[in-house]
Amino acid sequence: MGSAREPIAVIGTGYVGLVTAAGFAELGSEVWCVDIDADKIARLERGDIPIYEPGLAECVQANRERLHFSTELAPALEHARLLFVAVGTPPTYSGDADLSAVNAVVDAMPRSDEHALVMKSTVPVGTGAAIKRSFTERDKEGFAYVSCPEFLKEGSALQDFLHPDRVVVGDDGDWAGDAVIELYAPLDAPLVRTDVASAEMIKLAANAFLATKISFINEIANVCEETGADVLEVARGMGLDQRIGTHFLKPGIGFGGSCFPKDVSALKQLAGNSGYHFQLLTAVIEVNELQKRRVVAKLQKHLGSLVGKRIALLGLAFKSNTDDMREASSLVLSARLQADGAKVRAYDPVAEEQARKLMFGVVFADDALDAIDGADACVIVTEWPEFAELDWQEVAQRMSGHLVIDGRNFVDPDTVRAAGFIYEGIGR
Ligand SMILES: NC(=O)c1ccc[n+]([C@@H]2O[C@H](COP(=O)([O-])OP(=O)(O)OC[C@H]3O[C@@H](n4cnc5c(N)ncnc54)[C@H](O)[C@@H]3O)[C@@H](O)[C@H]2O)c1
Repeated sequence: MGSAREPIAVIGTGYVGLVTAAGFAELGSEVWCVDIDADKIARLERGDIPIYEPGLAECVQANRERLHFSTELAPALEHARLLFVAVGTPPTYSGDADLSAVNAVVDAMPRSDEHALVMKSTVPVGTGAAIKRSFTERDKEGFAYVSCPEFLKEGSALQDFLHPDRVVVGDDGDWAGDAVIELYAPLDAPLVRTDVASAEMIKLAANAFLATKISFINEIANVCEETGADVLEVARGMGLDQRIGTHFLKPGIGFGGSCFPKDVSALKQLAGNSGYHFQLLTAVIEVNELQKRRVVAKLQKHLGSLVGKRIALLGLAFKSNTDDMREASSLVLSARLQADGAKVRAYDPVAEEQARKLMFGVVFADDALDAIDGADACVIVTEWPEFAELDWQEVAQRMSGHLVIDGRNFVDPDTVRAAGFIYEGIGR
């Protein structure tokens, strides 16, 4: 096979697939990327990166000669033994994971004793066992299977790939697991080698725990608002306890993105399907939904009826440094505001293209000042660094109202108040 590093294939070139491909190319592997989206493959072949992820375009460019893009599986099967699967597993209407894309990949695999599927997509516990069963039923039991869940965070995905907190490999102790571990060896990360079901559960449990931490601090924030405590002080005082830790103790207007909402509900459904009622996750989901809507109540508290009111949304992506709009709090917020009769004008530095596909009735502004022009109130939805640089005296001159809701506790309340605004953060 030529190069010293094992060549690999990556099936699905979205956020996880493209980062995995670029990351392994950076480590020296030839990577054969496959996607059913012909437009995406054409863009990638031209060197045009379809998603916003810091450093990704540069990494793809630097390793261009090792990255091969195609809509066909055949070249991938020809050149690589390990086929990393990074197709989407979105929620179905019931909250279960939709495995149709994963199953399409499984169905497309030929009979082989030399290949392995390496599952990066987040799947319910039992999926690996089901795939292995289906291989056996179809006389393909020679096809190996490894669970290798991905923990990267959008916004720092490439860095996370190259500096993981841990690598989890769930397998049957055969050549495929060994080969995956060898691929990750240069990253020198702690390794958890375990069985397939446990690897699948590690991913779901990790995301459910992080989501629980967010809903927990959001509820503490809501109680702080009632009792006069400042949640930022509370979070700092809690987080310095090493058993708790400071991460994911930032109150806000709810978690979104392509992972937490769907993985929490997938774990809840998985438990339910197995006869166990996961009460804690039911609350985590409900708290999150209510948290997105609390902004509307804060606006009403100061503005009264929202009919005809002009509301500016600063930021739309579910967090900064990404253009991912999946399950973003801004989607619920803009819909709720419009349902209450408000006129919504919004600005996001990178997510507008994605937002236009999911948001309706919203006017998209060219920049933050354009968004707040004539607004009765402004809501900071995403903590984009450029909003920290806003000149609030100028904002005050451009807005017609004087209400700022800081959904991320991102800007300095004193500076905003000094410019004549009513400032409301979350939990203080
Ligand atoms: N986005 C994240 O931050 C993140 C982090 C960790 C894990 N995950 C998990 O990784 C998986 C992928 O997530 P994503 O955000 O990269 O999804 P995505 O929607 O960005 O990308 C999925 C890609 O798979 C392609 N695809 C679908 N069916 C295919 C098929 N049969 N053959 C080839 N390509 C196909 C799609 O065209 C798309 O390009 C999901 O299971 C997700 O839960 C995501």
